[in-house]
Amino acid sequence: MSIYLDNAATSHPKPEQVYRAVDHALREIGASPGRGSYRQALAASRLLFETRESLAGLFGINDSARIIFTGSTTESLNLAISGLLRPGDHAITTTMEHNSVVRPLHRAGGCGVTVTRVTGDCHGFINPRDIAAAIRPETRLIVVCHCSNVNGVIQPLEEIGRLARLANVPLLVDAAQSAGVIPIHVQHMGISLLAAPGHKGLFGPQGTGFLYIAEGIELAPLMAGGTGSHSSDLELPTTLPDRYESGTHNIPGIAGLKAGVDFIGQTGMAAIRARETDLVNQLLTGLGALPRVYLHGPPPDREQGGIVSFTVDGYDPGMLGFKLDRDYDICVRVGLHCAPDAHRTIGTYPNGTVRVSPGWFTSDEDIASFLSAMTRLLQS
Ligand SMILES: Cc1ncc(COP(=O)(O)O)c(C=O)c1O
Repeated sequence: MSIYLDNAATSHPKPEQVYRAVDHALREIGASPGRGSYRQALAASRLLFETRESLAGLFGINDSARIIFTGSTTESLNLAISGLLRPGDHAITTTMEHNSVVRPLHRAGGCGVTVTRVTGDCHGFINPRDIAAAIRPETRLIVVCHCSNVNGVIQPLEEIGRLARLANVPLLVDAAQSAGVIPIHVQHMGISLLAAPGHKGLFGPQGTGFLYIAEGIELAPLMAGGTGSHSSDLELPTTLPDRYESGTHNIPGIAGLKAGVDFIGQTGMAAIRARETDLVNQLLTGLGALPRVYLHGPPPDREQGGIVSFTVDGYDPGMLGFKLDRDYDICVRVGLHCAPDAHRTIGTYPNGTVRVSPGWFTSDEDIASFLSAMTRLLQS
């Protein structure tokens, strides 16, 4: 049995109830929501509503209709960025972003949008004052990754949200690595757009994600099509969530996502975060004791997400990852993690790092096996 330490890519395994919910949705619900008035279709509609309500409860969202189901964080970020920005607009982002932010902004740049990238310090921390200083009269969007997928640095969202609100500029948060693990409250944190995966910290299946759109924010939809509502109109409905949810929903995925969110409710987000911190500390202590190993996370007095990134003098990260898989059946991520600028910021470009990301189902024995494998690898 492999030791899976790549939960930052997608959480694995999922809680048992997630598997059961997906199976139940496929076998017993089967129908599409909003497409019929028979009981199975109504059950699908109810499932969508209940999942939105659960997510709204978790993230301090007042109106669950403002939660749009997507297939991934990437789709959510694309909807937010390309839906909001117009030629002549200015956007602010950071050098710690994932390509799912970098590339849509780059594309917007080709369509007359200007982009300022605020540089993180040597750990990747963004100074909110640098964001404030970059705001111009034509600034339409600030985009920030909450927790870095490269090294686990957590940005000061509340402060950034406060200054975004003061300047009346929408704040889009990429919560790919924090949703479900680190508390997020869209009202308290001044978040106008929240992009999150269903398939990482929320324990849902791959192919799930969502975007929260605050009241007053108008986005151009990415797609147009059937919504099961206002069908005689050529234009998409103006009501949410239908405006942004054309086509058949991923009902099995959303059923699994609901079960994942329920699991967080039953287990407690604080317990999940505490366990993750414990595992991260075991990794930091163990790796820190190995010769020639360099850790690339935040300093010890700062909080860290569930990600540990390291390099070893004289070893290519790719080769280490290959040997961990081939010789020890251990899954880690190596390289640039789709965030080259973040590596430039923390000094690990172009080879990147080895990234270890434990999850709720990682055992102390898994960490001990990984550390022992690393010890033997570095001795060979
Ligand atoms: C910080 C960050 N943003 C965005 C994404 C994209 O997420 P998804 O795979 O759900 O599209 C990831 C994926 O790892 C990520 O780590």
